[in-house]
Amino acid sequence: MKNRILVTGGTGYIGSHTVVELQKNGYEVIIIDNLSNSSATVVDSIEKISGIRPAFEELDCLDYNGLDQLFTKYTGIKAIIHFAASKAVGESVEKPLLYYRNNLVSLMNLLDLMPKHNVEGIVFSSSCTVYGQPDELPVTENAPIKKAESPYGNTKQICEEIVRDVIASGAPINSILLRYFNPIGAHPTALIGELPNGVPQNLIPYLTQTAMGIREQLSVFGDDYNTPDGSCIRDFINVVDLAKAHVIAIDRILEHKQNDKVEVFNIGTGRGLSVLELINAFEAATGVKLNYKIVGRRAGDIEQVWADPKIANEVLGWRAEESIEDTLLSAWNWQLKLRERGIQ
Ligand code: UD1
Repeated sequence: MKNRILVTGGTGYIGSHTVVELQKNGYEVIIIDNLSNSSATVVDSIEKISGIRPAFEELDCLDYNGLDQLFTKYTGIKAIIHFAASKAVGESVEKPLLYYRNNLVSLMNLLDLMPKHNVEGIVFSSSCTVYGQPDELPVTENAPIKKAESPYGNTKQICEEIVRDVIASGAPINSILLRYFNPIGAHPTALIGELPNGVPQNLIPYLTQTAMGIREQLSVFGDDYNTPDGSCIRDFINVVDLAKAHVIAIDRILEHKQNDKVEVFNIGTGRGLSVLELINAFEAATGVKLNYKIVGRRAGDIEQVWADPKIANEVLGWRAEESIEDTLLSAWNWQLKLRERGIQ
């Protein structure tokens, strides 16, 4: 029998790509999602890509009894990948309680129920946001955790601590914390991708919507940073590459290969690209000219951050493979597909 994996937030951006990769690697996936930032039609798209329809239940991870019943309905779930969370930095400043409740209580509910239902492990979606502005670049997993710039960032730090404390208390659970850098791009089939609600806050969806004419102009937030071209630098990681890291993490937990009961890995390319370099790369890859202007800095932005992915490369045997050109092209193809489908 195939190993059963529960994917929370499985109809979301990173979740949906991960479901496809899990299925490709022989796992049986059960998705739960409250559909607060995604649509149930994503399940159809996943089926189109993989040929396998994952089980789907509309469920909020805040619903403890609902989760308990889910584990009873789908017996034998071996591990969880926990994506479901609120993730907009700006919104988290306005609605901190929403962020603390959603992100912390969801994780606590899962951790609480795992031993009862013999779930062995959990892969947690963490973020490079835990490093703040690192003192040294590229940033390694051992870099100090800096005071969070936003409630969102704080939830990622606290969630990491919750996992560590619960496991240290003797809970029969293993965990891998994946610290993502900036995930971008879409599946090469253009059947799944990033679909933000309303006006996008993140760079790539805003950029592709501008290229499509949905938005008039992309604002580049600042060109007076202490970087070669003055714009911020990020480590943009292809979402399918990122999804593959989760499959390896699940294999590792279930094959009992971990060196520690909690392991943490940077999931990035190891290459920093500035916002302006990214815009140039997009124009070169797609042949589409982008209307953008330089505006003032955005509050709370980190100047520059990119990963040292050496530990993930060596210990997990995982490596980012896709080029930035192909990745940007995939984001553009996804945007074109959305128009074709009359969505955006
Ligand atoms: C932020 C979070 C990250 C989180 C991610 C998802 C921090 C430090 N980072 O990443 O943890 O996972 O959001 O929501 O909290 N930019 C523009 N114009 C735009 C949009 C963005 O110039 O219209 C610039 C930003 O100033 C930044 C870069 O593009 O320099 C990337 O921004 P964005 O895509 O929002 O991601 P982060 O802020 O890096």
